[in-house]
Parts: sequence; structure tokens; C-alpha cells
Amino acid sequence: MPKDTLTITDNRTGKQYELPIENNAIRAADLKQIRSGDDEGLVSYDPALTNTASCTSRITFIDGDKGILRYRGYPIEQLAEKSTYLETAYLIVKGELPDEHHLKMWKHNITIHTMVHENVKKFIDGFRYDAHPMGILVSTIGALSTFYPDAKNINDIESRRLQTRRLIGKVPTLAAYAYRRLRGLPYNNPDNDLSYAGNFLQMLFRMTERVYRPNPVLELALDVLFILHADHEQNCSTNAVRAVASSQVDPYSAVAAGVAALYGPLHGGANEAVVRMLQEIGSVDNVPAAIAKFKKGEGRLMGFGHRVYRNYDPRGKIIKKLAYEVFEVTGKNPLIDIALELERIALEDEYFVKRKLYPNVDFYSGIIYQAMGFPVKMFPVLFAIPRTCGWLAQWAELVRDPEQKITRPRQIYLGAEERSWSPIHQRPVPEMREEAVEDSI
Ligand code: SDX
Repeated sequence: MPKDTLTITDNRTGKQYELPIENNAIRAADLKQIRSGDDEGLVSYDPALTNTASCTSRITFIDGDKGILRYRGYPIEQLAEKSTYLETAYLIVKGELPDEHHLKMWKHNITIHTMVHENVKKFIDGFRYDAHPMGILVSTIGALSTFYPDAKNINDIESRRLQTRRLIGKVPTLAAYAYRRLRGLPYNNPDNDLSYAGNFLQMLFRMTERVYRPNPVLELALDVLFILHADHEQNCSTNAVRAVASSQVDPYSAVAAGVAALYGPLHGGANEAVVRMLQEIGSVDNVPAAIAKFKKGEGRLMGFGHRVYRNYDPRGKIIKKLAYEVFEVTGKNPLIDIALELERIALEDEYFVKRKLYPNVDFYSGIIYQAMGFPVKMFPVLFAIPRTCGWLAQWAELVRDPEQKITRPRQIYLGAEERSWSPIHQRPVPEMREEAVEDSI
């Protein structure tokens, strides 16, 4: 019977070591026993953590080769078709689908937290007229930590539950206020008679009408998009939330770190980058030249590729279909023709096939958002809103995990050996220090 162990022979010393294999992984700490001489023992080196599990988790499962995504075991396709965002958020945070009573309580407990302190509006007023809404969101979520000092009690389950409801309730309000700031329009307070997505649309788009009623097709489409973006295991922004939260800071500061990571064009900022890329390509006729450019490494086909999916991102398939339902109401976004041609050519081209680059969640989402009337700058914000429940579920899982402690990775030092300070007139002139300058930023 094969043993679940790994036998390592250190050829420097001839010694053998047997490391246990658990959940198809070895513990990096088990490498420390492997020494040669007076070193501190082996360290595993994994820049960008491409093959390193930082935690155990029970929230989201992804099979990158098969294009599978499940929240707490439920396939994303079923949740997108049958659930709502708030029900899915309950599932992700609590681990089970709610019964009728608990769903009603959950909706109530979030709805009563949609308002923010009036001072937040003054804070948002302080930004430049053209401030990117993600910069406003990072700042305002971080600022919420100063309004709720009780959030520091991270080991108190009731405090964790209260901050979770507050953040899921308030992030859409902050996002809508950021949008209204961008447009120079007055802030709309939440309308708690509307659904989660409906209220968000109301805070964004209500103008002078006394009562705003969202278009039901767009309200449903936004709710499905929220479901699709709710969590995605240990992505860049979730890793940021976990690392910051591991210092036992409050969840507002940790989620602000997640928003900051999501802002980047390689992560949640990709939906914005996709639409700018499609606009720059301009027409279907220009697609072959654009593909040729990407293959030469001149820029990236934004919205394509994924660290985990080596197959079509299941969310991308659902979003592509959803686009046509939205276009029924908004009219077709012509950029979709360029996107479809890019996908058609890329899926046949050796460069992309060999690197297993397929459309990801961001490839078609921006086209829908633009058709719904959102400015491009708002697209990453539309990713951050639903991801808030995933970040909070991952935060709570970290806080409760007895194996977790403050995140403090090692490094492999390649810098200068010890050397002594010298008076300035005795230092070598710059051209004599060529090798040192190339390391400077
Ligand atoms: C999200 O992790 C998550 O789960 C994230 C997310 C979530 O829900 O949280 O799914 C959301 O962030 C989706 C990804 C959105 N980003 C983009 O669409 C930006 C474009 N994609 C890439 O930059 C890239 O594919 C990443 C960042 C998504 C993944 O990068 P990896 O895994 O680090 O891969 P890599 O950069 O090492 O690329 C491997 C090769 C390279 O070529 P070679 O050096 O081998 O010749 O593939 C090439 C890359 O140049 N490549 C691309 C490409 N993506 C990778 N070439 C052209 N276009 C691309 N989009």
C-alpha cells in the first residue's frame, strides 16, 4: 500500500527525509529540517505564490482544467440561474443556503445598514472632480474603520457578524456616491423598498423622479453579475485581505486592501482595460493586426487568460449569454462584435491555445456595463461590490483558523554582503558603481 509521504534525498549530505503528504500537499515548514552545514534549513521559493497553498478553505472550489466553479459546493451555473445575490452572499458567508426565515432576516439586517455617516459625503466631496471611483472606494471603506471602532473586536463573533452586514450593506452606497461625484450629481440616499441591485441602480441613476423603479431586466442582469463575482478562492485581492487581516486589524482596513489589489488592470481592473482595448481596436477589420501585436508581446489581450483556469472561465460563458438579454433592453453594444472576433481568432491561434488562454470573467462584463450606461471607470467598482461578501467570508475563515497567524513570508537575500559606511568624499564616483545603480528603482 503506497504511503502518503515524499522521500527526499539531500545529495549535498546523502541524508534522506520522509515528508507527509496531506490533501495533495507537503508542509513547507517540513523542509526546514533539511540542512547542509550551519544554514537555517531549506525554504520553498515561489514568487507570486503560483504553486503555494496559503490556507485551507471551505468557501470556493475551482477546477481550472475542467472550468468548474462552486460556492460551498453549489455550481455557479445553478446559482446564477436560480439564486439571488443576497441568498448567494448568505451561502458564501454562512456556508449553507438559508431557509425562508433566515433569508428574510439576512435581507433586513443588510438593508438597515445601507446608509453611511453624513461625514462620508463631505469626505467624498474632497476628491477631484475626475477622481477614479476605485480610489474613492479604497479610501471610504478604509475611512469606515474610524466610524466603527468596535470592529477591532475581531474575535467577537457578534462584532464580525455586524461588520459583515454593515459592509455588504454600505459598499453599494459608497460606490454609488463615488459615481455621483464623478457626474457632479447630488447623492441619492438608499431606498430600502428596493432589492439589493435595484437600490444600487436607484442610488446611481435616480434624477428628479420622486420614485425610481429600476428596469427589471437590468436589475436581474446586475444581480446575476453580482453572483458571478462574489468569490473566487485565493485570488490576488483575497490574498491581500487575508494578509492584512492576519495582523488582526479591523475588517474595513482589510477590505480596503482588497479593493486596492482589485483595482489593478491584471485583476479587477481588467474589465475596464478590456473596453478601452476594444475601443482602441475600433473595428472588426483591425482585429487581426491587434492579435498580431499581442502575440509579439506588445500589450496583452485583456480579459483573456487566468492563473487557475486553463479552460474557458465558466463565468465568462454565462456573462456572454447575459449580454444579449441586456441588449434587448439597451440596444446592442457594437463592441461585442470586436470581442467575438477577437475570441474567434484567439481560440484558433497557436499562441493562445498553447498558453491555454481563454476569455475570463472580465472579457464580456465591461461590454454589458457600458450598455447599461456605466462609465468605464465604474467597471472595477462593479466587481468590488459583490466581491465584498467573498472577502468577508475569507476574513472570518482566517480569523477562526487555528493554523493561521500573522503573515510573514521569508525571502532569498541576494544583496550586498556586510560593508562599512564611508565618508562622502571617499565614496566611488557613480560610473564606478554601475552594478549597484541597475538595482535601483
Ligand atoms: C481576474 O485569480 C483570480 O481568480 C482572479 C479573478 C477573480 O475572480 O478574482 O478571476 C478575476 O483577475 C481575472 C483576470 C483578469 N485579468 C486580465 O484579463 C488581464 C489579462 N490577463 C493576464 O494578464 C494574465 O492572463 C493573468 C494575469 C490573468 C494571469 O497571468 P499569469 O497566470 O501570471 O500568466 P503569465 O502572466 O505568466 O502568462 C503566461 C504566458 C506569458 O507568455 P510567455 O512569457 O510564456 O511567452 O501567457 C501570456 C504571457 O505573456 N499571457 C498573455 C495573456 N495572459 C498571459 N498573452 C496575451 N494576452 C494575455 N491576456
